[in-house]
Amino acid sequence: MRQKIVAGNWKMNNTLNETKELLKGLKKELKGVKLDNTRVIIAPTFVNLQHAVKKTAKSVLEVSAQNLHQAKNGAFTGEISADMLLDIGVNVVILGHSERRAYFNETDEALAQKVNTAVAKGLDVIFCFGEQLEDRQNENHFSVVESQLKEALFGLQAEAFKNIILAYEPVWAIGTGQTATADQAQEMHEFIRGLLAKAYDAKLADSVSILYGGSVKPNNAEEIFSKPDVDGGLIGGASLKEKDFSAIVKSI
Ligand code: G3H
Repeated sequence: MRQKIVAGNWKMNNTLNETKELLKGLKKELKGVKLDNTRVIIAPTFVNLQHAVKKTAKSVLEVSAQNLHQAKNGAFTGEISADMLLDIGVNVVILGHSERRAYFNETDEALAQKVNTAVAKGLDVIFCFGEQLEDRQNENHFSVVESQLKEALFGLQAEAFKNIILAYEPVWAIGTGQTATADQAQEMHEFIRGLLAKAYDAKLADSVSILYGGSVKPNNAEEIFSKPDVDGGLIGGASLKEKDFSAIVKSI
């Protein structure tokens, strides 16, 4: 059975004190909640990762980073390596988020390197991709997604996919309040699974969790998560409020 996953991307939010408060609230909200075959992941900023790892040790929460650098180490001012994350107990990393692609010029080529590094080190990767509004309006959304996956992921060996979680995030739905409909999400997720089956095989395609991201809120999560190829969500804004995030987790 495919794993269900709800992940909260905190982006550049929360000081240490705010992180402490949110973690406390989340642990309280999620205490005793029965979560079969479900991972709940939060991604605070780099400076608060170590604290988050310590505070979530005996809870259902796992901690993810929001990025890493592809090199082992060296003269890359301001960057963070896979070893540094592993060293503090972080075993998951988000790569390819549309904000990193748009504001930090992350290309498919660089992302392929980052994914290779992360997987080689044994980190789980939440790999984000998705089309711009213009692509959808021009009906290019399937080809854009296909190319993003081919360029960054399909060079991987099949066994690497046990470390890969896919997150389809149409850029027009991120932080806009305009979510894709559950049917639009399902249509794309089914297409993605078809691409995996073509590039690898049906068994692998069936085993990879595909999350939807883009304005998921407590009032639309259940419908989106009910679709057969949607295995959970990558949540931005609503992951910053313990009640909203835990309500979304409970709708999985
Ligand atoms: O990583 C999360 C996504 O960018 C979704 O953000 O839920 O605020 O639309 P959002």
